[in-house]
Amino acid sequence: MPTRQKFTFITIMCFWAILLSVEACVVVPECRPADLAEAKLQRRISFNDGWKFTKHDAGAPKIRGAQKPNFDDSAWESIDLPHDWAILGAFTEEVDSAEGRLPFPGVGWYRKTFKAPAKGKHVFIEFDGVMKDAQVWLNGKKVGTWPYGYSSFSFELTDHLKYGDRKNVIAVRCENQIESSRWYPGSGIYRNIWLTVVEPVHVAYWGTYVTTPEVSDGRAIVKIQTLIENQTSQKKDVVIETIIVDAGGGKVATNEVSGKINSNAPKRFTQKLKVSSPICWDINNPHLYKAITLVKTDGRAVDEYETDFGIRTFRFDADKGFFLNGRNMKIHGVNLHHGLGPLGTAVSRRAIERQLEIMKEMGCNAIRTAHNPPAPELLELCDRMGLLVMDEAFDEWHKGKVPNGYHNIFDEWAEKDIRAMVRRDKNHPSIILWSIGNEILRLGRSKGARITKMLADICRDEDPTRPVSIGNSARYDRVKDSLKFLDVVGWNYRSNTGEYNDKQKRDAGLKQIATETCALVSSRGVYFFPVKKSRGESRNGQVSSYDLTNLEFGGLPDDEFRAQEEFAGVAGEFVWSGFDYLGEPEPCEDIARSTYFGIVDLCGFPKDRFYLYQSQWTDEPMVHLLPHWNWPGRGGEITPVYCYTNCASAELFVNGRSQGKKSKQKGVYRLKWEDVKYQPGSIKAIAYDKKGGAICSKEIKTADKAAGIELTPDRVAIDADGRDLCFVTVRIVDQDGIFCPTADNEVDFKIGGPAQIAAVGNGNSMSYESFRADHRKAFNGLCLLVVRSKRGPGEIKITATSDSLKPASVMITSR
Ligand code: GAL
Repeated sequence: MPTRQKFTFITIMCFWAILLSVEACVVVPECRPADLAEAKLQRRISFNDGWKFTKHDAGAPKIRGAQKPNFDDSAWESIDLPHDWAILGAFTEEVDSAEGRLPFPGVGWYRKTFKAPAKGKHVFIEFDGVMKDAQVWLNGKKVGTWPYGYSSFSFELTDHLKYGDRKNVIAVRCENQIESSRWYPGSGIYRNIWLTVVEPVHVAYWGTYVTTPEVSDGRAIVKIQTLIENQTSQKKDVVIETIIVDAGGGKVATNEVSGKINSNAPKRFTQKLKVSSPICWDINNPHLYKAITLVKTDGRAVDEYETDFGIRTFRFDADKGFFLNGRNMKIHGVNLHHGLGPLGTAVSRRAIERQLEIMKEMGCNAIRTAHNPPAPELLELCDRMGLLVMDEAFDEWHKGKVPNGYHNIFDEWAEKDIRAMVRRDKNHPSIILWSIGNEILRLGRSKGARITKMLADICRDEDPTRPVSIGNSARYDRVKDSLKFLDVVGWNYRSNTGEYNDKQKRDAGLKQIATETCALVSSRGVYFFPVKKSRGESRNGQVSSYDLTNLEFGGLPDDEFRAQEEFAGVAGEFVWSGFDYLGEPEPCEDIARSTYFGIVDLCGFPKDRFYLYQSQWTDEPMVHLLPHWNWPGRGGEITPVYCYTNCASAELFVNGRSQGKKSKQKGVYRLKWEDVKYQPGSIKAIAYDKKGGAICSKEIKTADKAAGIELTPDRVAIDADGRDLCFVTVRIVDQDGIFCPTADNEVDFKIGGPAQIAAVGNGNSMSYESFRADHRKAFNGLCLLVVRSKRGPGEIKITATSDSLKPASVMITSR
């Protein structure tokens, strides 16, 4: 380590050592050891644990005085955050199916008792998101409110803190109403909370802004603007030292600036650092640098702040689409709502990571955060995993889509919310677009145009380096007076209407991306005969998975593939949607509770079309066949077989007999054998490369009756932190281990060791069983068990039993 860096390192360590030995513990929440341990290392500690919670249902007596410190909350439930009060159910007719039929409306109260740090520190509470209408009190004094459920926000607590041994009580009230979203929003403090404890001179909340105004192979110029607060009563001389380290922790650049800051007049300091031979952040190599900012005043270090960032270039081009680091590429994206399936909306880093892993396996390279700012964890993961992001602010502006939606507060809060989004997120290299809204009503009117300009200008004011876009479903000529204020136009479901190729638009040099594509619906493992295209056909609340059923507003995946190939100027697509989500169960809105739009089901199990996208979006040879091959009573009946492959051709065998070879052709994305007659046994596809060499194959065998259970954990070792998750796929198989594709056996689970059941599910949009249970019925052969670690390491034994099936068990480790 060079001497200078060593000196700084030692100074900082000494600073923390002195600080902590004086105070024993920076903040002493009613305290779990984990909080204490974290507090010793960080300016920001998790404030998630040790809360009390209660919910006030409609009709029940109001909770009065819960903001007061001496209120008796002993009868309330003890919980840790993040928390979604509605996911446990029970499902209710009082909530419309469009919002998932779970009891999210109502008033929730949260309280936590903790001890304050020593006087002289400034203390802030940071909420990553509260659903919704959050009001926050400290010791009975109101410290702030924030209505939008998807924004992150922070309030200072310092002035109302009680020091020494006295207790402090923070109280949070939130309220959610029916018809407040067009999907399941969840309710409560569903994202992480943090406590930030700083010296009076410190880096402001979201106080750094890193850009890379110059990038070439030889060098990059990294510009870092740091907003410093001076909460003392005097003018202060400060020194800002910034060190850039690469992903391996090696120092690559350093810079120091100094200046004066007046009391309570935050000041921005700008530094430019040169990084030689930069490693660019890319989807294939998401290399992250870290800027470490040290703030010194009065001869000592008073703050240290870290910012992850990437060095990369990108641009949109009206004729050629999207370029990342100079390379032209198509965006293969999906839309994701914030829900985590059976886990609800309570943020879990691992659950988000698993969603992204599944999407990446399909070849997806981009996420649109439909239709709101996401949890910060999603962006951190996209940075780390190499996924591009369209970060979206709103689903409504001034004209509502649902009675209790955002339009009620748009005029007062829109600027604060959109600034909060851009300020929080602007250092993420994954983000390539700001989206100011989705399918905004009255966008084409003069007020719509005024708001478009206002919101786009705010994004550019906060971050001039990224283009501003929108998800728009209206015809170009109707909204062009608003679209002219944007940098990139996002089209929802417009590939079949000639919009991509509109002449006026081409003349205007518009840059384009398809922000929502496809309106395909399907249920995993369900197939209807005869096989035909349909507009929303369903039977008993299920939709066929031959991938030919779309709703009238959008097309099939194939239509969009064709359009994307034809129009190079369209930068790519975001499919609606990556995962099934609770709510919007079209075309079965009268009876179901979750959507059919997902490429994978609510549990993350791929539907057939997962492989259709994989065949378009990946190069690693793959082949997939449908339907399953268990059709008792269909002997001799026409049972078409479809094959999705990225190979040049494939040959189908039914019970060993070739049905002929078919080749992929331009504009044809599925290989189909339409006249196959069903006989039990097997179907097998062998896929061939261009030269005719066999490269991969897939066989589906007819299963005998269900006889056993197979458990497949996604990871065999998890963290013993009380938060990490293991997702266990539960398959019903016959006595030879062949998957039973229609099995619906009920499976019981037992967990031994330091873990508990976090959720169960099966991906059936018609299921009204609770997601928190020790049992689950399989749906078309599969169900999911999610296991959460407890604090403390050990071996975890997961056992699954079911009447008449051979039980199964699996061991995982928590460490
Ligand atoms: C779009 C909308 C999405 C979703 C989708 C499927 O119009 O933007 O939020 O509702 O339709 O119904």
